Amino acid sequence: MVINQKFLVFRKNPEETPRYERYEIPLKPGMSILDALFYIQDYLDSSFAFRYACRGAICGSCGITIDKFPQLACRTQVAAVKSTKKPPKLPELTFGEVPSDWNEETEILIEPLPNMNVIKDLVVEMEPFWKFYEEVQPYFAREYNDVQPESLQAPEDARSIEHLVYCILCGICWTCPVNATDPHYLGPTALAKAYRFIADTRVDEKHRRSIVERVSKSNAVPACEKHFVCNRVCPKGVKPGTAIGNIRKQHLTP
Ligand code: SF4
Ligand code: FES
Repeated sequence: MVINQKFLVFRKNPEETPRYERYEIPLKPGMSILDALFYIQDYLDSSFAFRYACRGAICGSCGITIDKFPQLACRTQVAAVKSTKKPPKLPELTFGEVPSDWNEETEILIEPLPNMNVIKDLVVEMEPFWKFYEEVQPYFAREYNDVQPESLQAPEDARSIEHLVYCILCGICWTCPVNATDPHYLGPTALAKAYRFIADTRVDEKHRRSIVERVSKSNAVPACEKHFVCNRVCPKGVKPGTAIGNIRKQHLTP
């Protein structure tokens, strides 16, 4: 017997007021939320827009909000959505007027990532996210055709930043309440990435100082209000809030 799963999905065209559409999808064993989005696009409404690339929790493209909890669509099982415990103290996320008859027990609510402008349906504008990411200079500053030997790193030094390297730039931690109110805040991703390079023993002092200078500005580390929502929602265990705390603790000066 085929079991159907009900969905209530945020839809928006440019210049239009958002609306919510209802869909019913035949559930298959192992079906992910991303599979369900494809079913809607393939069989029910070909104009439905969402992002994805790898389908394997690596590219970071498929971040959306599922039942008020931002997650990767490809890594979330449809069958587990209603039984999975959400992290505590998530902020109230608002996108549009969710129909008052939304049945929380049986309908899976699908919305875009919070705190970003919607381009269409689940596709959000990520320009500020990438702009702030670039501002922390998240790279090794070696010259083109540099003939210096490779930069070696002790295994324990590599291990100390390993969890930060796992960031897939999905933007899920943009759920941060400070991002909701301050469009100039660099955000948890950029600050975690900054700490990943500040703490990397292979980064030279001049480049490290330059990163520290950027994250010391008022719209960066000082703007973090220590909500730690980023730590709770990150699907990769990066713990951006802890990284921001480490920058603070070390009293780093440019
Ligand atoms: S820190 Fe986590 S939630 Fe934030 S962009 Fe990286 S992987 Fe995504
Ligand atoms: S499709 Fe790449 S992380 Fe989900």
